[in-house]
Amino acid sequence: MPRLHRILFLTLLAAIGPVSHAHAQDHSGNYPPIAIENGALLYGANCAQCHGIGGDTVPGVALKTGTFKRAPTDQDLARLLTTGIPGTAMPATRLSPGEADSLVAYLRTMRDFNSPAVMAGNSTRGRGLFEGKGTCTTCHRVNASGSHVAPDLSDVGANRGADFLWRKIQDPSATMIPLNRPVHIVLKSGRAIDGRRLNEDTYSIQLIDNQERLISVMKSDVKEFSILKTSPMPSFKDRLAGQELADLVSFLVSLKGEN
Ligand code: HEC
Ligand code: HEC
Repeated sequence: MPRLHRILFLTLLAAIGPVSHAHAQDHSGNYPPIAIENGALLYGANCAQCHGIGGDTVPGVALKTGTFKRAPTDQDLARLLTTGIPGTAMPATRLSPGEADSLVAYLRTMRDFNSPAVMAGNSTRGRGLFEGKGTCTTCHRVNASGSHVAPDLSDVGANRGADFLWRKIQDPSATMIPLNRPVHIVLKSGRAIDGRRLNEDTYSIQLIDNQERLISVMKSDVKEFSILKTSPMPSFKDRLAGQELADLVSFLVSLKGEN
């Protein structure tokens, strides 16, 4: 995948070559593609939690513009990243000189990419992780294989962006959409049910419990009903490496429905 990108990227550069000389100073042609790729991974691991995958979640800071008031030159920028910005929430990051250069290369060219995770990820490897080490199929289902406990992800790439998916895997509770919040029900009979709502009308609620059983309860039988704020999905932030997260996101983005 990165290889294909590199080829496309170089083809693009060749096509616009003569024009780009006028902007040689700030054009992506100055940075080796391998540095940009490494920078994208470092960005995902160290910066995206605050700046977002798209670089636009800190108010007043738009990383995709590639120009920074406090760092006109690449050297200034590398220094700013390692020292942070004292007196603000922008932290110092421990980076080797090579890593700082890679991040600079990525920041200066970020506008050319939709998402570092997709750019740097390999969806074939991502599928392997989804079914294997990531244990995703113990709860989720894709194209008729996997479990029903958690939402079916067969078309998640058509409904959610890479930025959301990236955050979802690392911080499931903070990114729960209201419809997916788990429910805890206690019936008047004393029976407790934990599960996920599939449907709800005036009189009844249909849900699927944690053993994959489809259950319908009459609202008139319900004694307690609560919607939980904590996702049953574990965070994979420390279980998967940066490259693995990128591969997974690449795979999820590719899921656009049954084919
Ligand atoms: C804990 C949150 C946090 C993390 C992690 C973080 N930043 Fe920031 N960053 C900020 C905040 C907040 C600002 C704005 C500071 C201000 O001007 O008040 C900022 C500012 C910046 C700026 C300056 C923009 C300008 O125009 O001067 C750059 C560039 C930047 N961050 C890049 C990065 C990179 C690259 C990383 C990863 C190595 C990173 N940041 C990690 C919070 C963070
Ligand atoms: C223990 C069960 C469990 C495991 C394991 C699990 N998930 Fe989830 N996941 C859930 C549940 C429950 C939800 C719905 C609640 C929520 O959004 O957090 C969910 C939600 C999601 C969503 C959001 C769906 C949407 O429509 O917004 C995505 C994406 C997702 N999971 C991806 C993954 C991936 C990728 C893995 C493997 C790395 C994984 N999950 C592993 C239980 C799990």
